[in-house]
This record gives sequence, structure tokens and C-alpha cells, in this order.
Amino acid sequence: MAIVSLANAKGGAGKTTAALLLASELVRRGDRVAVLDCDQLACMADWFRHGRSDSNLSVISGVTTTTLSDHLRRLRGCVEHVVIDLSGAADVLVALAIGLSDLTLIPVQGCVMDARGATQVLELIRYIENNAHANINHAVLLTRVNAIVTTRAMRKVKLMLAECKIRLVDTPLVERTAFRELFEQGDTLYSLDAARVSNLAKAQANARAFADDVLRLLNPAGEAMRHGPFSSMCYRSERTADPVVLPA
Ligand SMILES: Nc1ncnc2c1ncn2[C@@H]1O[C@H](COP(=O)(O)OP(=O)(O)O)[C@@H](O)[C@H]1O
Ligand SMILES: [Mg+2]
Repeated sequence: MAIVSLANAKGGAGKTTAALLLASELVRRGDRVAVLDCDQLACMADWFRHGRSDSNLSVISGVTTTTLSDHLRRLRGCVEHVVIDLSGAADVLVALAIGLSDLTLIPVQGCVMDARGATQVLELIRYIENNAHANINHAVLLTRVNAIVTTRAMRKVKLMLAECKIRLVDTPLVERTAFRELFEQGDTLYSLDAARVSNLAKAQANARAFADDVLRLLNPAGEAMRHGPFSSMCYRSERTADPVVLPA
């Protein structure tokens, strides 16, 4: 079971959209996917309630710091992928999810690195890496990128991130009406009407290329998948979290 988290301390960065595109694309390829909605806004759960999705996709809402590991333990063996949609925070739940994930994607809007929310997550990742003495597999994902962005501009961003030794997902998510429309009626990219939504085929191709990149980041050629540093703690015992009772 591979676990991918979407994290950015800023709301509106494109986390939920990327989580939905990834989960739907993996389901389309025949995998079983669970999305853990850790955001109280529950946009993902709202989308799921429309009920157009595949039976191979489940969305669990209301996930908290105390229940996250339990959910992951229960899902092990039942799904191929877990996608964790985090809230716009850099709190304990975000840190726990990052530590438990095999890959953390940090969506950043546009080509300009106006990215305070992303920086907060990157600092959190460094903190966990330093204290857990482990590497966290992570990459920045450019979202809502203008369709006519030049390869020169993209190269500049790549170079900038490479200087900071931060990986970039090769395929940026382009600003597309189709991606916005998904949330209107709980659609997928394959239930939308191509006659009504512009550039739907391009949006589908974009989502496919994005999912390919994510799978490559999870399983680099010739390497075994690197699990998150907290995963051994999570699966070591089967105990579920009991409430802490303080003596009177
Ligand atoms: N690639 C995209 N193309 C068009 N609209 C997008 C795209 N990514 C995000 N949006 C829109 O931007 C807004 C915020 O995106 P969302 O995924 O909810 O961000 P977050 O989960 O980080 O708060 C939503 O209205 C969403 O429809
Ligand atoms: Mg969201």
C-alpha cells in the first residue's frame, strides 16, 4: 500500500484538486484507492457524496491525529493506494501524515514561487528528517499553471528548486476549467461532457501524466519503495488508540 499526502499550509494551493485527480486516475487504472480527508472543510467528502465515483474509491472524512494510524492499519491489504488530503495547516496532523507517507506532494500555485505555505511544510519536513534521522520522500507540484507557460519559465523554477535540493514533479497541473468543474457536481474527468467543458481531453492527459510522475516518485526505477519514517511505528502493533484518562 502506497501512501501519498498533499500538504501546503496555505488554503487554495490546489491540494484537494491534486488529491482528487490522483485518486481518480489510479482508480481508472484499476487500483483500489482510499482518500483520507483530514480537512474539516471536507471538500473531498462533499465531492464523494455526489456518488458518481467508482466502487474502488472510498473517501473517509473527519480523520484526526488520533484516528489517522488506525485508518491506515485497517486499510492495509484492502487498497493499493491511500491519498491523504490535508488541511491548510502545518500542525501535528500534517506532521504525522507526512511521517507516515511514502511520498508528500507540496502543491504550489503558479510558476512564481509565492510560497510561504509551501515553505512552512518544507521546514516541517526538514524538522522531521533531522529528528527522526530519516529522509522524507517529497516533491513540489506546480498547480494552476498557465497553459501557455514557457518552457523557459519552467526551467527557471526547476533550477531554483534544484539549488535548494528540492524535487519538482515533472508535470505541472495546468489551470483548466475541467479541474474546477469536478467539484460542481461530483464529477470525474470522464463523466464531464466534452461538449460543455473546454479542453477536457487536455485535462485528462494532464492528469494521466501527473499520475505517471507520482508512481515514478513512489517507485524510482530499480529502487524499492521508501516508506515514511513513522510507518514502522504505525504497523508494529495492532493496538488502536485508547482515550487518555488522567487520574482524578
Ligand atoms: N489546476 C487547476 N485548474 C483550475 N482550478 C483549480 C486548479 N487547482 C485548483 N483549482 C481551484 O482552486 C481552488 C482551490 O483549490 P483546492 O484544490 O481546493 O485547494 P486546497 O485544497 O489547497 O485548499 C478551487 O476552487 C479549485 O477548483
Ligand atoms: Mg483542500
